[in-house]
Amino acid sequence: MKLIFYILIFTLITSLVDANNNDACARISHEYKRSDKNPNFSAKYSDVKECFESFPYNKELAEKTIETLKKTLQGFYVFLSEAKEKPKQGFSFRAVDLIEELNSLLLKNYTTDYQFMTDIQNLFAELKDPHLNFNPLCYKGLFLYSQQLSLYSVINKDGMQIIKIFDDEIDNSTIDCEVTHIDGRSSMEVIKEFADTLPNSKDAGVRFNSALSGLKFTDGGNLIKTSRTSFTLRIQLPKKSSIEYSLVCKNNTSTKLTREWKIESAIYNMFNTSKDYWNKFCLINENIPLPINEFNLNGGKMISKVYNIREGKMVYQSLMAKFFILNNKKIGVVVIPNIFPSDMDLVNQMFELQRGFNILEERGIRKLVLEFSENLGGSVDLALFLIYLLFPNSIPSFNNDMVVNDLTREALILATSQSPHEYFVDITMIPPLNPSKGLARWAAETAYRITYSNSVFDIFAYKNPKTNDHFHNVKEFIGNNTYMRGGIPTKYTSKFINRYTNRLGILIKLLSGNFKKYDWKSEDIIILTNGICGSSCSLITQRMAEKYNVSTIGIGGYKDIPLSYASFPGGEVYSFDNLIFDLNNIGLLRIKSLKHLIPPPFMIRAFLSFTLKEVYDGQDNVLEFTYKPAKHRLYYDELSARDPSILWLEVAKKFMN
Ligand SMILES: *[C@@H]1O[C@H](CO)[C@@H](O)[C@H](O)[C@H]1NC(C)=O
Ligand SMILES: *[C@@H]1O[C@H](CO)[C@@H](O)[C@H](O)[C@H]1NC(C)=O
Ligand SMILES: *[C@@H]1O[C@H](CO)[C@@H](O)[C@H](O)[C@H]1NC(C)=O
Ligand SMILES: *[C@@H]1O[C@H](CO)[C@@H](O)[C@H](O)[C@H]1NC(C)=O
Ligand SMILES: *[C@@H]1O[C@H](CO)[C@@H](O)[C@H](O)[C@H]1NC(C)=O
Ligand SMILES: *[C@@H]1O[C@H](CO)[C@@H](O)[C@H](O)[C@H]1NC(C)=O
Ligand SMILES: *[C@@H]1O[C@H](CO)[C@@H](O)[C@H](O)[C@H]1NC(C)=O
Ligand SMILES: *[C@@H]1O[C@H](CO)[C@@H](O)[C@H](O)[C@H]1NC(C)=O
Repeated sequence: MKLIFYILIFTLITSLVDANNNDACARISHEYKRSDKNPNFSAKYSDVKECFESFPYNKELAEKTIETLKKTLQGFYVFLSEAKEKPKQGFSFRAVDLIEELNSLLLKNYTTDYQFMTDIQNLFAELKDPHLNFNPLCYKGLFLYSQQLSLYSVINKDGMQIIKIFDDEIDNSTIDCEVTHIDGRSSMEVIKEFADTLPNSKDAGVRFNSALSGLKFTDGGNLIKTSRTSFTLRIQLPKKSSIEYSLVCKNNTSTKLTREWKIESAIYNMFNTSKDYWNKFCLINENIPLPINEFNLNGGKMISKVYNIREGKMVYQSLMAKFFILNNKKIGVVVIPNIFPSDMDLVNQMFELQRGFNILEERGIRKLVLEFSENLGGSVDLALFLIYLLFPNSIPSFNNDMVVNDLTREALILATSQSPHEYFVDITMIPPLNPSKGLARWAAETAYRITYSNSVFDIFAYKNPKTNDHFHNVKEFIGNNTYMRGGIPTKYTSKFINRYTNRLGILIKLLSGNFKKYDWKSEDIIILTNGICGSSCSLITQRMAEKYNVSTIGIGGYKDIPLSYASFPGGEVYSFDNLIFDLNNIGLLRIKSLKHLIPPPFMIRAFLSFTLKEVYDGQDNVLEFTYKPAKHRLYYDELSARDPSILWLEVAKKFMN
């Protein structure tokens, strides 16, 4: 009796002393305030974990979430059937029946919402299609977890592949120490295991590169460490609070280093309690708008060391491309770290790209290295334009299709019935202007504006590659195409390309005579990539390699195992929000007979995207599932990992004579 009494008293006192004690989210907020809102504040790992785990599993919420995911994917995810197929040789991933596995998650007895949401994300990651992305804001992206060091891999003198410290923000004496073990296990094994949880590529070697550090040019032209996630930098709560590294440093001195995660966030001052956190960041709540539109966790605060290029000079740069000439004055290097201008800036970026190549040509550059590492894609228009600039003999395009079912069929019918494109005089018939530069830009911008399509389901925006004419009706667009994918007969539309070949065709017509033809031939050009060349980037490398016989070099990856020169080509990615906007616009959401198929809105704050169209190579293979290894291989060393110009020089010496 007495004991119970004491316990009661004790509980009473503690709850009076600090109401935050049982609320881990509140503790985070409290600690942050106590630090005087120090911009270097790091929440305790245990508090963040406990905060996340404080939200109990809610069966109804779980069912609603799964319903939205399933209906979206069943209606529109183009790889749903093919994901059930075993990987082709060269790839590694688990064949997944996504719908069945989503169903089976609902049969599990979860205690926390966090575990449930995490299992969905892990399941999605198994498809190794990063266009397929489910991101519940509550648990992913609001906090940035950093080891404040980064890793890389080299081949040592004995020909063994090892892991080393690339950079250390806290203690620079660890830099270039070999990491022999992580948490007591072989470091290569631990990195591989982590890499294989990443969605980044169907090629394990590219996933390995993704788990390690890499360098990337900023828009402004500084070479810094990439801010993408890796083994030492995460946006999802890591499994443990710290990592232990066994190091062998200079003179064979062995040491151990244990690092806690530094946890940064832009939202530490935006909640006081777990209730606030839940209402603000986890649930959709029209009365509580999200306080910030963009969580720029990687930018601002992190100190980015700038790495130097010693073997070459930058001669021109645009947002999308950096142009170098190597010190031997013979080799030009074009580094393309992204294909991401805003839509407004598209035409400008095309002219910028052309200007860069013009400069290389004017300087008498005979050989080109095109580096596509750490490039996660962007605009298909710009990708096709780059191919066209160097290989202007045909207008590049790729065959696409999408799935046909009751939902997409109705979307095609509705969008097409409202199309602005049907009665267009084909603009490609307009005789070419012979404009001054200003007029050229105006023409290009006009071409881009007027061919814009309101809905991805508008069939007049597409044409039939077989007839080179636009589709005339939905029936013709849908055609009669059933393919076996993942053992399932699945219906797809006819193969299509964009009617205006992603608008490039018009631009070229309008500007014909204004494009310089360069003297570079296939054999003067070589592509260098660490395989992290995704989405529209992969269209460039694939087309140049296969159609124009440009040689490819893979850098990094696992020793002696071939490495892909591209990843996740996809086709077209669409976000759930854009989908709903599109479907609402064309009137599909109001059709009662389809109600049971239409994905309901999320009740949680979540971002969902998926691949809507799939793209084919010239041999009618679905690019996403076709293994294409680079022809040649190189590995990083201590110098070239920190200065890519050393690598460019190596490429020039080995492959460009
Ligand atoms: C935060 O960290 C940076 C870098 O270590 C340091 O220069 C700065 O003084 C710190 N700010 C505060 C408020 O402690
Ligand atoms: C979940 O719990 C229910 C009832 O508590 C039980 O019948 C069922 O077997 C459990 N399922 C699993 C997968 O543990
Ligand atoms: C390490 O840091 C110290 C102090 O900041 C600096 O003097 C030294 O040059 C650094 N060493 C290296 C190898 O960067
Ligand atoms: C390594 O050993 C050499 C000679 O034994 C010594 O001069 C040097 O200071 C040592 N370096 C380090 C980093 O301990
Ligand atoms: C470090 O150890 C290796 C192999 O154990 C040996 O070959 C090498 O000479 C050692 N280096 C130094 C600086 O002691
Ligand atoms: C947190 O508490 C402060 C001070 O009591 C208050 O001004 C603020 O509005 C609260 N924030 C939220 C999200 O409720
Ligand atoms: C569709 O194609 C299949 C097999 O190629 C054929 O048997 C069927 O008759 C076709 N259907 C239509 C409506 O053309
Ligand atoms: C492609 O290029 C290689 C050398 O890079 C050459 O041997 C081969 O003949 C070329 N193939 C075609 C089809 O041009």
